[in-house]
Formats: sequence, structure tokens, C-alpha cells
Amino acid sequence: MALLSVLTPVLAVILCLVIGFILVKRREPETTSSARSKAKTDFRPWVDQDLQDDTEITAREEEDSEWVDSNEEDLPHVPYSPLRYPENTMLQRSQDFYTLMNQRRSVRFISPEPVPQEVINNVVHTAGTAPSGAHTEPWTFVVVSDPETKHQIRLIVEEEEEVNYRQRMGDKWVHDLAKLKTNWIKEYLDVAPYLILIFKQTYGTLPNGKKKTHYYNEISVSIACGILLAALQNAGLVTVTTTPLNCGPQLRLLLKRPANEKLLMLLPVGYPASDATVPDLKRKPLDDIMVHI
Ligand SMILES: Cc1cc2nc3c(=O)[nH]c(=O)nc-3n(C[C@H](O)[C@H](O)[C@H](O)COP(=O)(O)O)c2cc1C
Repeated sequence: MALLSVLTPVLAVILCLVIGFILVKRREPETTSSARSKAKTDFRPWVDQDLQDDTEITAREEEDSEWVDSNEEDLPHVPYSPLRYPENTMLQRSQDFYTLMNQRRSVRFISPEPVPQEVINNVVHTAGTAPSGAHTEPWTFVVVSDPETKHQIRLIVEEEEEVNYRQRMGDKWVHDLAKLKTNWIKEYLDVAPYLILIFKQTYGTLPNGKKKTHYYNEISVSIACGILLAALQNAGLVTVTTTPLNCGPQLRLLLKRPANEKLLMLLPVGYPASDATVPDLKRKPLDDIMVHI
């Protein structure tokens, strides 16, 4: 009898463990199937899985009724016959364009000398000729010349950049940047006559308030930025490509941009300062960057 009273709590614990195990086992298929069904609703065939970057496609977190699909099936197609050059002209033009672009450098010392607004309009217009996923044109170029706004931008960027350099970037990143002699002081944000802030629109909003998917918006806007850099170079202006880490939300608020717009790039634009210097970098030769099969 005494033995039984000693064993009772032990038996009770074992019984509880067995019941617990059975319950967990019974719940498992349920969890797996709910995970599977979630994965199914998350499955977005237009996202390149290998790219591992779903920033280009907005997850439709809201009701599907808030979204609209393109109905441009009726878009007419028109003849297209651009100028065709003789081979020697082609060769010359391609060589000239390479020479022009090979002179492009990231310049961190920009002159305060004014630049005609018309030139800025033209280079941004040129950037807007970029291809975009399903022709969604998911870009907004915010051009800032107002000195007070430029200064506000500088304050935001410098505050975040100091934290980036001191804490977020880590020793390796800071070490890799050392040769460029960059730091969190960004005088050019006050000095450059223009700052162009490029936002990617993660989705579009139609006049009726419905949302439109912006396929591959990050890739599309990056291409537009590349064309903008080429247009600036062509006009004889300089810039430095910057991607200010963690400044996006504050800059979006300052510039009163909507929530679907995310800051991708910030370009200070102007003439180079008369005493501007650049790191003496070398570019890879063609054989190192091209594989011909
Ligand atoms: C995506 C991207 C982000 C960059 N971010 C910065 C930046 O935050 N600050 C900076 O001074 N330069 C930045 N750069 C400029 C690079 O340091 C520069 O392009 C590189 O050193 C090569 O020099 P080059 O542009 O003169 O050929 C960035 C460039 C790219 C493409």
C-alpha cells in the first residue's frame, strides 16, 4: 500500500507525458498543412526565387479587392524603325561612348556653382526613358535645390551615417571603405546645387484608389539610375552614387513622399569643385568582365 502511494505521483507524471506526446503528434499534421497553405498563399510566381529579393514585388497584404490588374490588352502596336548606322559609324559611336563613360567618376567634392534647371529637367527626363517591368515606370525623382531642405537632408544623413560607420557597418565594411576616405561628413549635401533623391514605388496607386503591382520595381529603378548617371556624364556634370542606410523613412517624411515610395539612391549633382580629387581606381579589363561563348 505504501509502495502504491509512493508510485502514484510518478505514474501520474508518466501518464501526463504520454497524453502530451499523443496530443503533440496529433497537432503536427495540422501545423504542417496550415504552413503549406500559407506557403501557397505566399507563392508569387512573378518573383524570381533565385534573386532572393522580394522587394521588387509588394506582398498583397491587404484585401485583394484593393488591387487592380492591368487591362491594357487593347494597346495598339505601332511601327518602329530607329536610325541604323553604317558599321564604321557604329564602331566610332560605341568607342566614343565608352570613352565618355570611362571618364565618369564618383566625385565627392562638388562646386556650389549654379547649374541650369533645364539641364536637370533633361537628365531626369532621360532617366525616365528606362525600361520597367510591365511598363509600370515605378520611379519618382525628387529634385531639391532649396538650401534649407538640402540642409535638413544633410542633418538626417549625417546623423544616421555616423551610427552606420560607428556601429552598423562592422569592421570589414569600414575597412573596405578606408581607401576611398569616405566618412559620415557629407558637405556636398549643402554645397551641391541639386540633390536628386530617387524613390522606387513599391506599388502604384490609380486615380480610383486601387493599387497596381509594380513588377521588378527595384531593378527597373536601378536601370533608370544608371541612365541618369550616363545623362549627367554626357552633360558634363558630376555626382556620387549614395545609398544612405536607414535614412529612407526620415527623408520620405521630410520630402512628403507617400508610403509606397522607398528611397533607393541620393545623388548630389553639380560641377566638380576646382580642387576635386578622386581615388586612383583602376577598372577591370574587358577580358575580366566578359565571357564570350
Ligand atoms: C550602390 C552604390 C552605393 C554607393 N554608396 C556610396 C556611398 O554611400 N558613399 C560614397 O561615397 N560612395 C558610394 N558609392 C560610390 C562607390 O564608392 C564608387 O562607385 C566606387 O568606389 C567606384 O568609383 P567610381 O564611381 O569613381 O568608378 C556607391 C556606389 C554604388 C554603385
